[in-house]
Amino acid sequence: MDDITFNDDNAKSFVSDKEIAALQPEIDRLHVDLEQGQGAGSDCLGWLHLPSETPATTMDAIESTRRKVSGQCNAFVCIGIGGSFLGARAGISFLSSAFGNSRGPEIFYAGQNLDSDYHSDLLERLVERDVCINVISKSGTSTEPSIAFRLLRDFMIKKYGKEGSRERIVVTTDAKDGPLKRLADEEGYLSLVIPDNVGGRYSVLTPVGLFPMAVAGIDIRAVMEGALKAEKALSDSADLSKNSAYRYAANRHLLFRKGKTIELFAAFQPSLEHISEWWKQLAGESGGKEGGGIFPASVQYTADLHSLGQWVQEGNRILFETFLWVENPTRRLKIPEGAGGEDGVGYLAGKTLDFVSEKAYKGAVAAHLEGEVPSLAVTLKERSAQSLGQLFYFFERAVAMAGYLSKVNPFDQPGVESYKRNMFTLLKKPGYEKDE
Ligand code: PA5
Repeated sequence: MDDITFNDDNAKSFVSDKEIAALQPEIDRLHVDLEQGQGAGSDCLGWLHLPSETPATTMDAIESTRRKVSGQCNAFVCIGIGGSFLGARAGISFLSSAFGNSRGPEIFYAGQNLDSDYHSDLLERLVERDVCINVISKSGTSTEPSIAFRLLRDFMIKKYGKEGSRERIVVTTDAKDGPLKRLADEEGYLSLVIPDNVGGRYSVLTPVGLFPMAVAGIDIRAVMEGALKAEKALSDSADLSKNSAYRYAANRHLLFRKGKTIELFAAFQPSLEHISEWWKQLAGESGGKEGGGIFPASVQYTADLHSLGQWVQEGNRILFETFLWVENPTRRLKIPEGAGGEDGVGYLAGKTLDFVSEKAYKGAVAAHLEGEVPSLAVTLKERSAQSLGQLFYFFERAVAMAGYLSKVNPFDQPGVESYKRNMFTLLKKPGYEKDE
């Protein structure tokens, strides 16, 4: 794995090498559990070897569907919630311009909230555009995307007719079950399959994430090649001096045991903002159960150094940070000589923004460590499809191991059902009335 490096130097005053090494026998055992499907949630381990085992027919189906769609739209709406949209959004925003997608249709998201204003604004924006939509739901029953799909399907049928909208609607769902699967079959929509044994938040390397990324112009074969490198490196050996994902998991585990119950995912580059959102779901929904688990939060520096930075430096000492950093920006913008007049940054003329940003990074790490906030660092070589694939796989592997280390099933999410039950009762959903 050459695009990602992990470093725990700035956590060593809290977690010693000896303590890490002491976890090795347990990690060896849990690695075997993962690889041999002997641990909790073993029916959800399809993600482990997706990079090496995804059939060519799946990649071909994604690409042929992309060709059908891309040629006829300049607006593409991705409908989904949780694991059914966060990965695609993370990948697309990581590799797009900060101000939109220049390599394909403009990408919009729907069904991740229940806001009338948001969805009305979206529908208004789409009126004058050539539109295709992709509804993504493994269960086919999530309320938010189901409502958004209903709104957008109505919109598409009004705009293109029933027949015309058929070739503009792509459904990504289960191979056999669920209302969305039945609807796709009845209506003859283009369909892509989510493998049975891959859960929502581990599904970014299936058509769930790959298809929207392909529509956005991302080289998804390069994403999978990157992920494959990570798969090989992280499956081959559980040795904590070699397996960086497990070393990250071991550090998190020990920091948590020492009272560091919040992990602040800190990124300096705005292209990482939605990677943080994807990671929060992956880590939070996988680890937060049975009264335990690290609370995953995120900050976007340097902006948040001017707001939450105060709390990080001097607030409750229950934090550790995981810095995510891209080593080589795509372009390097120099600070100009300036047009005269003292603006206080003349001493930086000729330096790049990234040079300054790196000093802010190093400065924050040192200051926070002094304030008893240890930190871990994940560094990406560059903003490339290969790096992205490695990053996705790295965090999936790490979060799965972290779940096993804390003796929970990292692949279920029983807690998210409670709000749904209450909401369905309040909405008088058929079958839920009697709970009132
Ligand atoms: O990780 C998970 O399983 C969840 O976050 C799901 O992805 C999310 O609830 C959406 O589910 P579905 O794809 O069934 O609509």
